[in-house]
Amino acid sequence: MKKNIYIVSLYLVISAVLLIISYFTLFEQLITIKLNGPEILKIEVNEKYNELGAKVYGTNKGYTIIGKVDTSKLTSYILTYKIKNSSSKNVKRRVIVVDTQKPQITLVGENISLYINEEYKEPGFTAIDNYDGDITNKVIVKNNINLHKVGEYKISYTVEDSSKNKITVNRKVIVKGKEDFTDKLTYINNILLVNKKYVLPKTYNPGINPIAYEALKKLQQDAKQVGHNIPLISGFRSYSQQQTIYNNYVKIDGQTKADTYSARPGHSEHQTGLAFDVGEINNYFDTTPAGTWLVQHAHLYGFIIRYPKNKDHITGYKYEPWHIRYVGIEHATNIYSRNITLEEYLGI
Ligand code: DAL
Ligand code: ZN
Repeated sequence: MKKNIYIVSLYLVISAVLLIISYFTLFEQLITIKLNGPEILKIEVNEKYNELGAKVYGTNKGYTIIGKVDTSKLTSYILTYKIKNSSSKNVKRRVIVVDTQKPQITLVGENISLYINEEYKEPGFTAIDNYDGDITNKVIVKNNINLHKVGEYKISYTVEDSSKNKITVNRKVIVKGKEDFTDKLTYINNILLVNKKYVLPKTYNPGINPIAYEALKKLQQDAKQVGHNIPLISGFRSYSQQQTIYNNYVKIDGQTKADTYSARPGHSEHQTGLAFDVGEINNYFDTTPAGTWLVQHAHLYGFIIRYPKNKDHITGYKYEPWHIRYVGIEHATNIYSRNITLEEYLGI
């Protein structure tokens, strides 16, 4: 009898233990963790990673995240979400840092309109990428503007980042018909006047004057016949070319001194296409055989020595025996024989 009681008690204890074990197993099985959001998450490089977290069911123990995301690197990360104090329960998320964003090109200025034969000066651009940073030096510019033909053109700027995201932006360039300079140039006796007082428009860009150039070639040929070499050193210069030259002289000598021998942009006769620097850029050029010949013969081809000796107070510039200006044979001969400057000749 005692033995039976003992067996029954043992049975009851074992049953109770088994019941408790299965209860806890069942309970443990009810504890789960689920991700908020997707298992694979793509995030743009350098963007802030917002943790979506996870949800734990069946307990209020909470969870921890193992792993970290650094969005400054183009790589992928595994994050493990683990229930606290639970050995086996976890879920994982793969976070992939991607670069799908195109770079940005910013153009300085927008569309441009200029006159036929005017120079095109690129106003500039920058290219920035969210991952590569400044990639301005990778921009490929395609420019097929014909500055000598009226029309609407496009300049394209293309850049590709290291993840092969590519962008192209365009600039419209309109080449307009000839500008009317009638009221913008000073002609006296049919002579175009340019000096420190009389200015040329920035857009006046006629190139070398063909009549003046023919006259120069004839002068050079005839000089050669009598053994003198009078090479062309500087001819037509655009407004912006003169700007560069003048600024350079200002850097070297300071503005006050530069103004005695170099014209400010818009004030150079070289911009008319009618003036040439010939022979040698040297104050003693007029004492050389070629220089002497030039002084005596230039007028026969329509040229004057534009900045004569000791006439700075009238012309505004120091003596330049090399700078000749085309005014046509008649005017040049008059000016030569009267030994006066162009300013005096024109009565200004
Ligand atoms: N040297 C002359 C003045 C010029 O710059 O045009
Ligand atoms: Zn000159």
